[in-house]
Amino acid sequence: MANQKATNVTWQDGEISREDRFSILRQRGATIWFTGLSGSGKSTIAIALEHALFQIGKLSYRLDGDNVRLGINKNLGFSEADRKENIRRIGEVAKLFGDAGVLSLSSFISPYKADRDEVRQLHDQAGLDFIEVFVDCSLAVAEERDPKGLYKKARAGEIKNFTGIDDPYQAPSKPEIHLHTDRMTVEEEVQIVLDHLQGNGLIVKQPFTRTEDDVAAVASS
Ligand code: ADX
Repeated sequence: MANQKATNVTWQDGEISREDRFSILRQRGATIWFTGLSGSGKSTIAIALEHALFQIGKLSYRLDGDNVRLGINKNLGFSEADRKENIRRIGEVAKLFGDAGVLSLSSFISPYKADRDEVRQLHDQAGLDFIEVFVDCSLAVAEERDPKGLYKKARAGEIKNFTGIDDPYQAPSKPEIHLHTDRMTVEEEVQIVLDHLQGNGLIVKQPFTRTEDDVAAVASS
C-alpha cells in the first residue's frame, strides 16, 4: 500500500450517502476484477458482460488495462513497481466507481497476488464488494490466440518482461469465480458471472424501463 504523502488532509463527507446513490441507480456498486494472462479473454468477457448488464438495466463501466494505460496510467511501464502502481491506482478508481454505484468491470493482467489482495482489502475496508474472477487459460492457448501479436514479439525478444514469457503470473488461490476460457464459451462465462452477482444480491433482474414518473420522482426528491 502506498504511503500517505500529503499531510493535513481529511476525508469530507457530503449530504448524499452511498445508499442514496445506489437507490437512484437501483443497484449496488461493486468491483468485478478479471485477472489472467494477456489473451486469456478478460476484455472479451468484460465487453460481453457489460452488454448483458445493460440489457437488464444495470450500469457498468469497463476499466481495461490497455485503455487505462493510454490515459491515467500512461506514465507506467511493465516493471514490477510500475505494474504495482498500475493496480494500486486502478484499485482506487474502481473503489470510487463502486462508491458511486457503478459495477466496474476491471480487466488487468494484475500478475501479483499481493497487489490484487491490496485492492481487495481496500474494498473490504470501504464496505464494497470485490469479486475476483480468474480468467484461466493455458499459456499455450493464449499464445496460440495471440490477438495482438505480442507473444510472437516477446518470443523474438522484441518485448521484454512479457507476462508468461519472461515475467511471472501468480494465479489466484481463492477467486470468487474461476473461468476456464479454453473450454467454455463467452456466453457460458457471462452467465456464470451474472449468476454469481444475482446469487449474492448484487443485481436484481429488472427490465430497462425508466418511466417519466421515475425521472420526476428523482428530480423532485
Ligand atoms: S498489468 O500487468 O499491469 O496488470 P495490464 O493489464 O495493465 O498489465 O496491461 C497488459 C496489456 O499491455 C497486455 O494485454 C498487452 O496488450 C500489453 N503489454 C505490453 N507490454 C506488455 C508486457 N511486457 N507484459 C504484459 N503485457 C504487456
